Amino acid sequence: MGRRHLQALSQDHRVELVGVADAVAEAATTAAASVGAQPCGDLAALAALGIDAVFVTLPNVYHGAVVLEALTRGLHVFSEKPMATTLEEGRQIRDQVRRAGRVYQIGFNRRWAPAYRFLRQHVDAGFTPFSAHVKINDGDMLTPSWYTNVAISGGFMYDTAVHLFDMIAWLIGPIESVAALGRQSCYPDYDDVALLLRCAGDRPVAFSTCGHATWAPPQERVELYGDHALLIGGYGPRALHDARESARRLAAVFIPRHGEFVGLRGRRSRLHRRLPGRRSAPGHGGRRLPQPRRPGRGLCQHRRGWPAHSRSHGVSPWISPAVQSRMQRKLTPAS
Ligand SMILES: NC(=O)c1ccc[n+]([C@@H]2O[C@H](COP(=O)([O-])OP(=O)(O)OC[C@H]3O[C@@H](n4cnc5c(N)ncnc54)[C@H](O)[C@@H]3O)[C@@H](O)[C@H]2O)c1
Repeated sequence: MGRRHLQALSQDHRVELVGVADAVAEAATTAAASVGAQPCGDLAALAALGIDAVFVTLPNVYHGAVVLEALTRGLHVFSEKPMATTLEEGRQIRDQVRRAGRVYQIGFNRRWAPAYRFLRQHVDAGFTPFSAHVKINDGDMLTPSWYTNVAISGGFMYDTAVHLFDMIAWLIGPIESVAALGRQSCYPDYDDVALLLRCAGDRPVAFSTCGHATWAPPQERVELYGDHALLIGGYGPRALHDARESARRLAAVFIPRHGEFVGLRGRRSRLHRRLPGRRSAPGHGGRRLPQPRRPGRGLCQHRRGWPAHSRSHGVSPWISPAVQSRMQRKLTPAS
């Protein structure tokens, strides 16, 4: 990972790469030579070069001590995840960042991935997740070589799963409680784990992770459940399904004055052709037009801000009567 960061930084004109430190001298020399920097043996030697910031890309168990040392030396820090492998070190880093007033960033790269930014944009725009189903898998636990050595990695959950713990907190809210079940199946660590999490606001999240699932997609998936709405992201298609929004749009399109389909008149459209249950009917271009379910009893009549012409009529036949009636009850202002 250190080499990837070096590569990216070497292409950023705002950055001057000064030194590369590694416990293995040969690794430091090769990596430093690739970007015209100086090889070093440790952080003290790096700091002596007069640097402003450091990227910590060591195996997990070393993050805490090296980050704390860097902050104490007054350096800005980017640290690969996890933050640390003990709570105590994590708290010390938090406190030291506050004291030192330096920038500290963790390598939670999902926050920049389009797949997850899509989810966040909808959350920022008002989608409220009440609960969620989240998974992240690894195909195997062979790389890096210390992955299954808990004394170095901190454990399976500290490596890849931690990315989606961050997503849960980022998209839903801080995690307040966790219940876990795990088993050791293929590697000498818990490599099959299921969690029940409770996020702030009493929002339940079901989470699962596996360390031996093959690399077949989808390795990661997040489903957020809102008010008759589903937001999906991660590997594979992203989507927002919103029953209320669909009803609103369709109610705006179905203008059932006199039972007519006025909105689409004159341009019998793709939407029209896709409507379920259409059949030939005289006078409408050979297509049966959807009728309002019961004038004056639709969901939309209670929805403030909807087009006036749609208020007193029925909703889409695509939404089942049971859901409609639940939504209607919900949307009816308390008298
Ligand atoms: N964000 C991501 O998606 C992502 C992906 C892969 C790895 N990572 C993280 O990057 C970090 C490094 O992982 P990696 O796969 O590159 O590991 P790696 O073992 O390939 O590389 C670690 C390097 O650190 C050096 N090193 C080990 N102990 C040292 C010590 N005490 N002092 C100085 N140097 C030491 C090693 O010689 C090696 O060059 C880990 O924290 C891992 O979790 C993040």
